Amino acid sequence: MTYETIDVQEMSPACGAIVEGTDLSQELTNRQFDEIYDAVVDRVVVVFRDQELTPEDHIALSRRFGEVQPSAVSAFEKDESFPEIDILEYDADNPPHVTRDLWHTDFAGTEKPSWGTLLYARDIPPGGGDTIWVNSVAAYEALSDRMKAHIEGLWAYHDSYRPYGEHVRPEMYEGDKGTDYIRDKRAQYTPALHPVVRTNPDSGKRGLFVNESMTTHIQGMDRRESDYLLRYLFDHLRTPEFQYRHKWRANDLAIWDNRTSLHYALFDYADHRLMHRIIMQGDVPRA
Ligand code: OGA
Ligand code: MN
Repeated sequence: MTYETIDVQEMSPACGAIVEGTDLSQELTNRQFDEIYDAVVDRVVVVFRDQELTPEDHIALSRRFGEVQPSAVSAFEKDESFPEIDILEYDADNPPHVTRDLWHTDFAGTEKPSWGTLLYARDIPPGGGDTIWVNSVAAYEALSDRMKAHIEGLWAYHDSYRPYGEHVRPEMYEGDKGTDYIRDKRAQYTPALHPVVRTNPDSGKRGLFVNESMTTHIQGMDRRESDYLLRYLFDHLRTPEFQYRHKWRANDLAIWDNRTSLHYALFDYADHRLMHRIIMQGDVPRA
């Protein structure tokens, strides 16, 4: 893809791009915005370097992309003055538990998973804390025709609370940590059912839409069949050739397309790491 208003440096054949020289605190022209949007869909994740953004700038930029999902729905800390922003802050006293080594797509366990995320790096540890994305279209396309035929038309259940299970986040269940609140919410919650192969409406491309963190089982399959098939797909989605691993710098702003990607935040640091996150409301996934 060629661009006229942004300088897009592709980072791996499968996905990832870095843009330098664009100031996102300024109002974008329609042309610039369209090119940024196309780059996000094409590259799955685009990181803009050297951004000096106030929370207001971050919110205004996100709104160009559509409807912001209130951060109230996530388990992250909030900034009271900016209810759109999730605060992801970790250090040695408060170690990360973003994914607990599980790949995921944001809000897959809801009827309308977020279409994308705008994650702004405020403080980055001197070593570690990278994030990896995988292009699920590349993963789908690399399957054999026999496997594609096998998974065609399948639907899978996604459980938003699975990443908060006792075996995943034991620290949340120690002592009195308000866990009853989670148990209550979980009791009210119905897992989401989505197609295993999802079409990105912007590109028309199809990608695998299952993730290790939340996808529990495939509809209409025997449990062992479902377990084996999902385990294979999770494993396939970990293939390095489908990935881009980003080494963050403070003031990076990443925008990713959640519809055809998974990501994984590495938990390999103890120094301070602070990210501001805005989540974009998405649509019902279509096969
Ligand atoms: C997220 C997430 C990745 C990171 O923002 O949805 O998973 O590297 N975080 O902090
Ligand atoms: Mn995430």
